[in-house]
Amino acid sequence: MIKIAVLGYGTVGSGVVEVINTNHASINKKAGDEIEVKYVLDLRDFPGDPIQEKIVHDFDIILNDPEIRIIAEVMGGVEPAYTFTKKALLAGKSVCTSNKELVAAHGAELLEIARERDINYMFEASCGGGIPIIRPLNSSLTADEIDEIAGILNGTTNYMLTKMAKEGSEYDDVLKEAQAAGYAERNPAADVEGHDACRKIAILSSLAFGRQVDFEDIYTEGITKISAADFKYAKAMDKAIKLLGYSRREEDQFWAMVAPVLVDPSDPLYSVNDVFNAIFVHGNVLGNAMFYGKGAGKLPTASAVVADIVDEAKHLHRSVMSFWSTKKLELTDISNSSRKFFVRVAETSEDKRKKAEEIFGKISFVEAGLEGEFGFVTEVMTEAEYQKKAEELKDVISMIRIRHVEY
Ligand code: HSE
Repeated sequence: MIKIAVLGYGTVGSGVVEVINTNHASINKKAGDEIEVKYVLDLRDFPGDPIQEKIVHDFDIILNDPEIRIIAEVMGGVEPAYTFTKKALLAGKSVCTSNKELVAAHGAELLEIARERDINYMFEASCGGGIPIIRPLNSSLTADEIDEIAGILNGTTNYMLTKMAKEGSEYDDVLKEAQAAGYAERNPAADVEGHDACRKIAILSSLAFGRQVDFEDIYTEGITKISAADFKYAKAMDKAIKLLGYSRREEDQFWAMVAPVLVDPSDPLYSVNDVFNAIFVHGNVLGNAMFYGKGAGKLPTASAVVADIVDEAKHLHRSVMSFWSTKKLELTDISNSSRKFFVRVAETSEDKRKKAEEIFGKISFVEAGLEGEFGFVTEVMTEAEYQKKAEELKDVISMIRIRHVEY
């Protein structure tokens, strides 16, 4: 029997216990041994709930119990999760987690500690919830040099953008609906400002490129400025607006960003709607692959955590995770990256349109029937060139990048 502990009995923690109970027989068969939850760490008590007999409030009980071989850390946040995880790994216990904040901040160090002790630190649930993406990057795509990752990595914002596209609603109204539906937090900043997607693309890029990508270095723009008017233009262009986490290798240069992006119907990310997530990967041998599924929610996330528990149970004395170097990967400034831009200008005169053509060169105007403004799409240019030209034109209301797929 393999005894495990679950740190945190919130949405994901209760899901982990539920999945283990529901699929007990098949999970044990796949793990090759019986998996039993011995402890659940939480600050709260759950009187009347069968889980109460496993609840402990002191992490040291778990740490000092030699029977505990695997710990599922589903607390979220960097502390105390970091301290607990480090102590557990140093004590020779494998850890798995859904905690993207912690993996993005300290993943390299925790992977190294696990590798030195022939145990595992796994985090399939940290990116894309129930979608297998860490394991494919870690073991299935190792023949490839990954040169691009583009992901819809946040379910809440994808739900909001899908609603805005379908219903023509404004951002504030859709945010209220997302909060009422239980998708968006009362403080929605982590989702709508792009911080959650930023941590996820930092983890995926670190794994794909083999060195620590610091999330603080990633240019991050959320969806708070996207309006119903932007969707009118998007509809006129037959494009969707998606919040993408994006990273790319160009020879020996790497860059990454999180931003709302206009995507074409021919792009596989175009039809990823509602709370679904998808991660598009390009490998130099493989070509394109896309991973799609439920990126958030109790059971999809718990499914990924339990899959890690099973994997760790099968490899109690062998480290099977690739690791990335703690040495930081220097990202190139995005001002050198190139794409087309969609631009809205707060003026309608013929002179202003002509000026836009003079400054930007070949452009295509987009007619969406909005008063007091016009919109146009540029040719491919660098971010730096765009910024310079936009400053010269003046009266720019907003700009949305257009995804440029070369493959
Ligand atoms: N808030 C996140 C989302 C949860 O909406 O995708 C999953 O990480």
